[in-house]
Amino acid sequence: MEVIVAKSAGFCFGVKRAVDKVYEQIEKHESENIYTYGPIIHNEEVVKDLEQKGVKIINSKEELKSIKKGIIIIRSHGVGKDVYDIANANNLEIVDATCPFVLKIHKIVQNEKNNDSHIVIIGNENHPEVEGIKGWSSNPTTVIGNEEEAKSFEADKSKKVCVVSQTTFNYNKFKYLVEIISKKGYDINVLDTICNATHERQAEAKKIAANVDSMIVIGGKHSSNTQKLYEICKKECDNTYYIQTIEDIELCKLQSSSCVGITAGASTPNYIIEEVHTNVRAEF
Ligand code: F3S
Repeated sequence: MEVIVAKSAGFCFGVKRAVDKVYEQIEKHESENIYTYGPIIHNEEVVKDLEQKGVKIINSKEELKSIKKGIIIIRSHGVGKDVYDIANANNLEIVDATCPFVLKIHKIVQNEKNNDSHIVIIGNENHPEVEGIKGWSSNPTTVIGNEEEAKSFEADKSKKVCVVSQTTFNYNKFKYLVEIISKKGYDINVLDTICNATHERQAEAKKIAANVDSMIVIGGKHSSNTQKLYEICKKECDNTYYIQTIEDIELCKLQSSSCVGITAGASTPNYIIEEVHTNVRAEF
């Protein structure tokens, strides 16, 4: 059996940087309380390992308000300004692991204040990255995640419309939604802020899935970028399987495949990809 592992599978630059920062803090500050604002990545294995090393997760602003001492690590998704404000008010040490590509969007949105425009974020309303971006906007802001929302979008015609995107949004869907909004006759400025890491991972996954008998997509079950990868692969290859770790490998019916592809979402550590790869090679 031939096994093709996508080169772009697994941690992207921003996630690797964020996870490394947490381990760095654990080493440097053994006796201090270390917190991450939300799980550092959508991967249960990594989160469990960090918990065992004493890192606690803060899940809400209310919880953050009650912490008066320690180090708070902001994950790669970023957060809104109010989270920094609470941490600063409580004299917490902030270690900012917001991905530079997300920071760029925060700046765009903040600067739009001077243009008095309407901000459109193409993305998933409930995604923490989108919440963070929204948290830097002082302008009217609309999140658009599907065709219906794009069609019903309305803004003050006298204002410019500035469109940005969640970094992990599907590129084709972004283009399609922008097309719908563009037809409405606004003075529109579209900034494609989709991260290349996602685009490359999606394009490579699509190409591999189109040429294999079975495709394995590895990632945490709450990882939206893994879910998107799965959707893309499933369209190309009907035998596409979504697994979290090596333990789910039995779900994959690979017996009759002569060529298997493997890719993984942005929060999947390398060792899990390697384990799956080795197992598929050994077992089938
Ligand atoms: Fe950053 Fe792109 Fe990853 S925005 S967190 S490098 S997917």
